[in-house]
Amino acid sequence: TSVPSLASSDGHGFLQCLREKMPSELVYTQSSSNFTDVLFSSIKNPKFFTTATVSPRLCIVTPGDASHVQAAVVCGRRQGVRLRVRSGGHDYEGLSYRSVRPSEVFAVVDLGASLLAVRVDRIESTAWVESGATIGELYYAIARNDSRVAFPAGECPTVGVGGHFSGGGIGMMTRKHGLAVDKIVDAKMVNANGELLDRAGMGEDLFWAIRGGGGGSFGIVLSWKVQLVQVPPTVTVFNIGRMVDQGAVDILTRWQHIAPSLPSDLTIRVLVQQGQQALFQALYFGTCGALVATMGEQFPELGMTSADCQQMTWLQSAATPFLSFASNGTLEEVLLDRTAWTSAFTKAKSDYVLRAIPKAAWKEIFSRWFGMDGAGDIILEPHGGFMDSVPAAARPYPHRNGVLYVIQYIAYWQQQGDGGAAAKSWIGGLYDFMGQHVSTNPRRAYVNFRDLDIGQNDDDGTFESGKVWGERYFVGNYRRLAAVKAGVDPTNYFRNEQSIPPFMETT
Ligand code: FDA
Repeated sequence: TSVPSLASSDGHGFLQCLREKMPSELVYTQSSSNFTDVLFSSIKNPKFFTTATVSPRLCIVTPGDASHVQAAVVCGRRQGVRLRVRSGGHDYEGLSYRSVRPSEVFAVVDLGASLLAVRVDRIESTAWVESGATIGELYYAIARNDSRVAFPAGECPTVGVGGHFSGGGIGMMTRKHGLAVDKIVDAKMVNANGELLDRAGMGEDLFWAIRGGGGGSFGIVLSWKVQLVQVPPTVTVFNIGRMVDQGAVDILTRWQHIAPSLPSDLTIRVLVQQGQQALFQALYFGTCGALVATMGEQFPELGMTSADCQQMTWLQSAATPFLSFASNGTLEEVLLDRTAWTSAFTKAKSDYVLRAIPKAAWKEIFSRWFGMDGAGDIILEPHGGFMDSVPAAARPYPHRNGVLYVIQYIAYWQQQGDGGAAAKSWIGGLYDFMGQHVSTNPRRAYVNFRDLDIGQNDDDGTFESGKVWGERYFVGNYRRLAAVKAGVDPTNYFRNEQSIPPFMETT
């Protein structure tokens, strides 16, 4: 055919095509004076701020409306140029703006610059949110004038809606209302033919796939219609730290049995930190008095009292990044600040726990792994409640009934020093050690905690090569995702190191 191969394009035709179809100020080439500022604007992991990072060699497109996104796809297909799409830039492996392959020539479509609107329909109790908005902006728009409505998604306000909704969306309301993707009722996306589709136009298979099958595989989702959820006007939170010499090992061992089966109005997650401390962080849909009574009955080992309670609106609870409950600043400053910044380099991994980990193992985790140089954090997020009621095939996210909690491991380091050797060795060693205690066959992982160590597509992007990582993120849903992909993008135009490959009959 006359379509150039993706490998052979030099990009001139692509840039020319873009110039014909959209205002030139929306296209930043390497020669634009602010190219680097735009590229770095939402990189959230500073380890990718380096000249070694394989960045978009051709340009960054910052679309102002759907027609610009369609134009980028049409030009990309016609001229043989691949696109990566970025919303909030939080991908742990930077796949929204970098390639692992040094020779890859690609452009980035960055929705975080202009496609940020949130429109709330109070009568219907729904909202349309554009992918470039952050979840903090979504929460603020929904709840600033009405403390009785909310949306269940992640815990850090700067996370982008586009990538987050594409992969699931776990947060403090997951046990009560499910994942973000459990409350999405419509979406608008541009497919690999440059067509703009809503739910009716894309059909139920593709609509299923984009709600959790991971970003960057099926097209560019422009906006999402979400169902809001009801919350009480006042919620109660607590943040209780226990050191090893205060019984952290016993309390945490017990937490595993209790947290997934608590009433779904109460979520208690745990942050285990260097210094051998376990921080128990809770969100409760009720008053302090009722929470103290529930904790006395269900989890007396934690020793929670009314002095630990903080009562606030749901929106205030969402404005406490990582639930530290110590954040400074107004709601607007915290929820709407896109620049919130970490100077640490990070590496993350994840696991799912289906059977409580024995006390002896927790003892070793604290004494050996959290006593070590380079130790970072682990975050334990309970499932159960609403999550148990959703069949594993209802959405691409398969980790439902029977999962006690998900573990996120995070290692941190600074640019100076040992280049992260101690932190990397810590996270790798701990992950190996945990293998005996977590899910197996496959050892599961959460696609939004992207981890390229668990496998990458081969150069041909085959179904078989994708199985290695795909069945770990999606278990039995990987095959259906690949079949949907074959139907909507058979030439595998939207592709990255961990995008869903098309499942062809011959594979
Ligand atoms: P980014 O723009 O980097 O995109 C991520 C992936 O999705 C890329 O592959 C990208 O190409 C693709 N993509 C982006 N926009 C798309 C679109 N519009 N259409 C199609 N594909 C698109 N997770 C969680 O469940 N709960 C939590 O509480 C947190 N908290 C958290 C805190 C911090 C500080 C970080 C760095 C990450 C999290 N996460 C999280 C993980 C987060 O959900 C995950 O990184 C999301 O993919 C981020 O979405 P962004 O749009 O910001 O990323």
